[in-house]
Amino acid sequence: MRVLAIESSCDETAAAVYSSQGGLLSHVVLGQQAAHERFGGVVPEHASREHIAKGLPLLREALAQAKLTPKDIDAVAYTAGPGLVGALLVGATLGKGLACALEIPSLPIHHLEGHLLAPFLENPDLKFPFLALQVSGGHTLIIHARALGDYVILGESVDDAAGEAFDKTARLLGLPYPGGPHLARLALEGNSNSFTFPRPMYRSKDLNLSFSGLKTHVAQLVARLPQPLTATLKADIACAFEDAVVDCLVHKTLLAREKTGSTQLIVAGGVGANQKLRDTLKATAQAKGFEVFYPAPWLCTDNAAMIAYAGYQRFIAGATSDLRMGIKPRWPITSLSAP
Ligand code: KG4
Ligand code: ZN
Repeated sequence: MRVLAIESSCDETAAAVYSSQGGLLSHVVLGQQAAHERFGGVVPEHASREHIAKGLPLLREALAQAKLTPKDIDAVAYTAGPGLVGALLVGATLGKGLACALEIPSLPIHHLEGHLLAPFLENPDLKFPFLALQVSGGHTLIIHARALGDYVILGESVDDAAGEAFDKTARLLGLPYPGGPHLARLALEGNSNSFTFPRPMYRSKDLNLSFSGLKTHVAQLVARLPQPLTATLKADIACAFEDAVVDCLVHKTLLAREKTGSTQLIVAGGVGANQKLRDTLKATAQAKGFEVFYPAPWLCTDNAAMIAYAGYQRFIAGATSDLRMGIKPRWPITSLSAP
């Protein structure tokens, strides 16, 4: 079985083909940084227009790279939510239109379920149940994934998502958007001992997190320091910020692991590409005797390979075509069920 997928929930247009026989046959992603950079964040209307321009050419490209024609496809998966209304509409319309024309099933996919299942593409040994740390620009969630469609949120950020905090802090340091990777690169040159930032909610009894105060802390610190900031100061701030975020994420993830007794942890979403987070969790997992799975960095950020794979898993579990389903810009992952 071959599934063609399109992902267009935010500011990446992506297409991919997954095959039950050959695995991932192709995947292509086009970012929209150039369209949003000067605004310092994603402009929804621009995002929709970019998806309109790039969606169909990318689907063609994914088919060409897989050396397939539309007739070779058995189902089309698309991201139905959560995400930006206009952006989702473009992908959903393309996906459903294509499925309709080819008379094959169309499969609406939850973006976060895609992120959660992405590590399976590289680790066929991974099995439910597992613990997942989902850290992206829009979400920071600690999830107990008990089975396909059965997800319990154990903890989440009560304000900014971790990626959002990275991006906003990067902006305060004058770095380009999206700032996460730039800030992480800068932090490599910083000295961990120059500043110590607060760890919001570190001692709270629940598994929730908070990052907006950290960003405010940086804003206040920057305002007190002589301007313009030296390169050394910027690097030290980046380092202290990254240390604080990583520390909080690792601490609450470990508490969640103790609570669930999980032996497998997966880290998903764009911030999962952060090397300090990866190194710290890897060392902790070794010390505490559990396994941690990271998708390759390209699989952590938004892509259609995860949507194609989720579509395939849902289809073989019994999901049927649903042309009537609209998009769901707000769609709690806990409302999903097994097909
Ligand atoms: O999952 P994703 O591609 O998109 C969604 O938000 O769904 O995540 C994007 C986020 C952005 O906030 C970006 O700055 C952050 O992931 N990010 C990073 C790194 N790479 C991407 N944050 C910290 N360190 C990184 N290396
Ligand atoms: Zn995402």
